Amino acid sequence: MIYFDNAASSFPKPPSVSQEMVRAVNEIGANPGRGSHTLAREAANIILHAREKAAKLFGCTNPKQALFYSNATVAINQAIKGLSWERGDHIITTSFEHNSIRRPTAFLAKQYNVDITHIEWKGDQQLFVNEVLHAIRPSTKLVAMTHASNVTGAIIPIEEVIKYVRQQNEQIITLIDGSQTVGHIPVHMKEQGIDMLAFPGHKGLLGPQGTGMLLIEGDISLTPLHHGGTGNYSEDVDQPKKLPERLESGTLNTPGIAGLHAALLIYEERMNQNVPRETFLVNRLWKGLNQLDGVTLYGPDINAERIPIIAFNVLDIDSQEIAMILDSTYNIAVRAGLHCSPLAHEMLETMDRGVVRVSLSMYNTEKEVEKFLAAIQEIIEAYRNL
Ligand SMILES: Cc1ncc(COP(=O)(O)O)c(C=O)c1O
Repeated sequence: MIYFDNAASSFPKPPSVSQEMVRAVNEIGANPGRGSHTLAREAANIILHAREKAAKLFGCTNPKQALFYSNATVAINQAIKGLSWERGDHIITTSFEHNSIRRPTAFLAKQYNVDITHIEWKGDQQLFVNEVLHAIRPSTKLVAMTHASNVTGAIIPIEEVIKYVRQQNEQIITLIDGSQTVGHIPVHMKEQGIDMLAFPGHKGLLGPQGTGMLLIEGDISLTPLHHGGTGNYSEDVDQPKKLPERLESGTLNTPGIAGLHAALLIYEERMNQNVPRETFLVNRLWKGLNQLDGVTLYGPDINAERIPIIAFNVLDIDSQEIAMILDSTYNIAVRAGLHCSPLAHEMLETMDRGVVRVSLSMYNTEKEVEKFLAAIQEIIEAYRNL
């Protein structure tokens, strides 16, 4: 099997991820933060170490503001819906958003009459920054942006955007969806001026499913989406004021977080590599596809920076059909369709048939890329000979 669907969930994982998960289940098992016995303390330490590591790696000053959730979507929902909203408030976002930002913001629009402006990313930093600045109003409360498109792999220059947004209005809160960049390219909240950063554990970080985080920099007050047990302040009917308890109700996913911690340690080693392996592979893949007559590529070209994602179509064939052939005939896993990002497809004019998306990880090889290119070539020839 050739696994080219790492933007959905990465596979395989580093061996230490499952080893730490198994250890948490088989040797610890207790509830973190819900007791003072040895095993409960060990479980709590797993959580603490993962919190501290994530905060350090991604530039979040206070590890207590590094919060665990079950995926990026839940983290993003807490960030967006946790702010206080009233009629006429304004949000700036992009036309690249995954439904994880699009739907919660659309919900606010319906619920509170909040206004949303979607800015298109057309591959031109200056144009994009100007459009964002032009869109800012006195009522703009939030700029919520993905760091990279999960459809085309294009990277949005968040640092530049945030810098100019700050200059215009310091009060605007910035939320970055790092789902497709964390684990692939450097993300640092303090250096990039990010107020809230959400990401999953199970994509570029190579951690397990069931994990995601929201990191908060500075003094941002969020209303919890969930209320309940936090293992402390039990006498109080209200949710504790302190973080992380305030925004983490109920038992945490200790085995998942143990696996995520292992993945963070591996990421710490790989983040210093000059050119990550998957960057090299994705360039080879792009060049190979670009040479095939019958392939239409979408998104940034070879000269632009990208994360290891490529979107393309073959002849005029539905993307799902190509994905099915790759799976059934060649044992290659890719993802086709709209990838939960309808706005991106409206922009690409691919709503009718979607695109085939290939997404790589450091575990992919050159040989796999060559086999993939040969498979696409064969499919094109087969359709032309029909
Ligand atoms: C840009 C982006 N945001 C959010 C998500 C949602 O991630 P999760 O499935 O962990 O909630 C994805 C998943 O594909 C994504 O690509």
